[in-house]
Amino acid sequence: VRVLAISGSLQARSSNSWLLRTAARVAPEDDEVVDAGSVGALPHFNPDLEADGTPTAVDALRAALGAADAVLIASPEYAHSFPGALKNALDWIVGSGELYGKPVAIVSGSPREDGARHGRAALEQTLRAQGAVIAVSRTVAVATDQGDEPNADVDQVLSAVLDGLRAAVAARTAEA
Ligand SMILES: Cc1cc2nc3c(=O)[nH]c(=O)nc-3n(C[C@H](O)[C@H](O)[C@H](O)COP(=O)(O)O)c2cc1C
Repeated sequence: VRVLAISGSLQARSSNSWLLRTAARVAPEDDEVVDAGSVGALPHFNPDLEADGTPTAVDALRAALGAADAVLIASPEYAHSFPGALKNALDWIVGSGELYGKPVAIVSGSPREDGARHGRAALEQTLRAQGAVIAVSRTVAVATDQGDEPNADVDQVLSAVLDGLRAAVAARTAEA
């Protein structure tokens, strides 16, 4: 399956972006984990901007979502919700509808085992409002300043998350 990977963090040493790189590394050969690029590259959502043609970065995100069988979002929690830059990216998709019926897995890298649950709940609500199917949603305990060192426990978690996404894609295909 083709999985589009979206990070909710703009930090250079983001633990959430590291979770996505981990998923790409542990993915089986017939899965492809594609980096969506930084949500920070998108303009602030404003429908007026489409009057003179859709902004290039928005077009690219919509096309990447349209071409994906599933989506993997790794996002931190900020102030009991999810980052504005990620909400902005999702707002651009409301009208075009690429998330409708699409299996989505959410992982939240947090220094605390029980962290990020409010942020995930808020993200789930926004995604469901756009018709996405939440296949997996879980916090992953990680160091804040993660670097790029592999971690066998995290490898296992991301493998299981990809398994969950693959099952959701198979179920959707069987329904169609
Ligand atoms: C402005 C700000 C607000 C935060 N608010 C929360 C919060 O409400 N709940 C929580 O569990 N963590 C919170 N955190 C901690 C982040 O979720 C944590 O540092 C996370 O690992 C950052 O992800 P990143 O490494 O991918 O950038 C906050 C961090 C920042 C910078």
